[in-house]
Amino acid sequence: MAKPPIISLQTRRIHPTIGMEVTGVDLSGPLQQATIDQIEYLWRQHLVLVFPNQSLTEEQQIAFSKNFGELDITIEDDKKSSKNPEVLRIANVDERGQKLDVDHPIQHYFSTLTALWHTDGSYRAVPSFASMLHALEVTPEGGETCFANGIAAYEALPDDIKRQVEDKHMVHSYEFTRHFERRLPSLSEDERLQSPPATHPVVRRHADGRKSLYVSGNVAYYVGGMPLDEGQRLHAYLLDWVTQPQFVYSHRWSVGDVVLWDNRPTLHRVLPYNPNHRRVLQRTELKGTEIPHA
Ligand code: OGA
Ligand code: MN
Repeated sequence: MAKPPIISLQTRRIHPTIGMEVTGVDLSGPLQQATIDQIEYLWRQHLVLVFPNQSLTEEQQIAFSKNFGELDITIEDDKKSSKNPEVLRIANVDERGQKLDVDHPIQHYFSTLTALWHTDGSYRAVPSFASMLHALEVTPEGGETCFANGIAAYEALPDDIKRQVEDKHMVHSYEFTRHFERRLPSLSEDERLQSPPATHPVVRRHADGRKSLYVSGNVAYYVGGMPLDEGQRLHAYLLDWVTQPQFVYSHRWSVGDVVLWDNRPTLHRVLPYNPNHRRVLQRTELKGTEIPHA
C-alpha cells in the first residue's frame, strides 16, 4: 500500500501494538482531503487514534465524524443529546449540567455494561464500523477506557485454538445484556423489536485479509454448535486472551481528548471510577458497511 505524504500531523506511539497519538491538526473545522487521507491511513494501521487538546461542539464532532462515513443513531433515547440525535452522551451529568445521583439508571448502565469488554453494535446484523469519544469532563482517577487489539491477539493464538475457533459463530443480542447485568430493567417491547439477535463469526476477516477475534463480554452469549457451558468456557478463554496487557492500550482521559477507534478489530471497556465524580464524554458512532466475514 503506497503511503500518502505526511502533512503537518505529528504522531507518537502510545503502546507497542495498538493506538497512536496524533497532534498538529485542529478537528473543529473543515480538513483538506489529504489530511483526512492521512488520518485514515494512520487509523487503519493503529486501530485507535488519540487527538489531545481538541474542542468540539456536538455539531463540529458530527461534521468531523462524517469524513469517515455515515452516522448511526442509537436505540437508547435516554442517552441521546436533545439537540442532535447522532450524539450519545456518555455522561453522569444531565444536559443542564446537573450531576445525576449515584444510583441513577444511566450511571448504573455506564458503570456496569460498559465496564465489560465489548465492541459497539455487535448485536446488529451489520455492526458499527467505528466510534468516537470527546472528553468534556473527566474523573480525577479511574474511568480509563481500555482498547484491545483483536488482530494481534488472533495472530498470537496457539495453533490448536486457532483451529478450534476458525469456523465458530456466536449469537450476539442486545437482550443478552440483561444476562450479564441482571440489575438492569428489562428491555421494552419496542427496544426488543428493534434489536433481533445476530450471528457473527468468532474470527472476523478484514478487507486487507487480516483476521481478528470478534467476541463481546456484554452481548455475545451462545457459541453455535457447542453445549452452552463448553461454549461459555471457550468465550471466557478468548476474552481473557484478547485482553492481555500486551494487546491493550489504556487511555487516561484529559479534557479535550478525542479518541476514535475501529470497532471491527478491537474491543474496549471502561475501568471503574467513583460515581460521585463527574464524567462527560460525547460520542458519535459510524455505521458499518459490511456483515462480518469469516
Ligand atoms: C462507548 C464506551 C467507554 C467509556 O462509548 O462505547 O464503551 O469509557 N465507552 O465510557
Ligand atoms: Mn462501547
